[in-house]
Amino acid sequence: MTQRHPTASDSPYANYSPVDPAVRANPYPYYAWLRQHAPVKYVAAMNAYAVSRHEDVRTVLLDHVRFSSDPLIQIAFSEYNPAPAARYLISSDPPEHSRMRALVNKAFSKRGLTEMRPEIERTVGRLLDAIGEAREFEFIEAFASPLPVSVVADILGIETERHADFRRWSNNVTAGGDDSRMSEAQRARMHQDTRDFRAYMLDKIDTVRRQPQDNLISDLVRAEEGGERLTADEVLAMCVLLLIAGNETTTSLLANALICLREFPEQEALIRADRALIPAFVDESLRYLSPIQLLFRRATRDTEVAGVQIPKDAIVMPMYASANHDETVFAEPARLNVQRTDLRKHVAFGWGVHMCLGKALSRLEGAIALNALFDRYPRLDITVPAYDWCDAFYLRSPKRLPVRRG
Ligand code: HEM
Repeated sequence: MTQRHPTASDSPYANYSPVDPAVRANPYPYYAWLRQHAPVKYVAAMNAYAVSRHEDVRTVLLDHVRFSSDPLIQIAFSEYNPAPAARYLISSDPPEHSRMRALVNKAFSKRGLTEMRPEIERTVGRLLDAIGEAREFEFIEAFASPLPVSVVADILGIETERHADFRRWSNNVTAGGDDSRMSEAQRARMHQDTRDFRAYMLDKIDTVRRQPQDNLISDLVRAEEGGERLTADEVLAMCVLLLIAGNETTTSLLANALICLREFPEQEALIRADRALIPAFVDESLRYLSPIQLLFRRATRDTEVAGVQIPKDAIVMPMYASANHDETVFAEPARLNVQRTDLRKHVAFGWGVHMCLGKALSRLEGAIALNALFDRYPRLDITVPAYDWCDAFYLRSPKRLPVRRG
């Protein structure tokens, strides 16, 4: 009897699905297998084509004619979305996307980063002061989660006394779809919050329309491109998108940065000895442990990527985190190295027309936060042996990160 030799498809990695608990525990060996054996693979559990190589991910992201962003509407929309009728920048395609992006870019880039720096430094200082002398604290709850919400609230011009409400509203929106474990009373409270959020924001939009202020909502209301303006609902949707896109990702950046330092203590020593390496570390940690692991596109026609046929209307998953470990682009991808020369090729912020609007802001937040953490704590040790990763399969971020100061 002839013995069958194991083939690549016998590998446990061949059954990749982003929702599989084994993949959630560590997706990187799966990505490596996919890149080598099935760079474009139909994943039945998702009814989608996983695209894992750097070159192919870039091809998908750069070609908005063949690959539409419209499936992202399901991610952007949750039941607790205060602007359900409005179109979202992230799920629209050119030319509509270009019009919205130009309007938002104008408003967003007007708030120069130099102007934002002192505000962010103050917020970081305030959060660390509140932690005070506690020897142990939960890093996400005390620092990594409130920081980006406060920064966005300040940029939008939310009054300080409404920041606590704003954080709750924001958490509701970003909590997204999964409310299955909530009681009826909790759901009712969330719906009430959504109505309050909408009412507060529409009132604010109306006020600044009559009496412009120096904040992003005012700029969005006034922004005009080719005679076009955003409607009140579009302004509200834009604010909601800034929350969805900017909060969990930046929380994840900060938490994942601590995980990187734990895994590579010699890199931490290097960075602490030369703080000028911090910006490179922010990007290298985004490459090494990307907050957004994958997202979605829809094939607008029968097409092909890397020789694999993809039918019209099929869902395609560009896998940013896999592209960021592609050994044909990054030398020793599984090693964190703040001195690597190929760093700027990472796609943690995406690529093409949808490339992250807040990338400069999150790089700045990351650098300010890490500098302040290094200043305050000669050591900051994670006290759990393993991480409970967040439920959203397209994100990679620990739910909790208990730490002890040294
Ligand atoms: C480390 C933190 C962040 C990461 C890793 C990240 C990642 C990304 C990625 C991968 C995309 C592209 C989505 C696609 O290809 O469809 C994106 C888009 C976007 N991001 Fe970020 N982001 C971060 C922080 C922020 C912040 C702080 C903001 C704003 C406050 C923001 C606002 C946006 C917006 C509005 C878009 C949509 C742009 C468009 O569709 O034209 N992001 N982000």
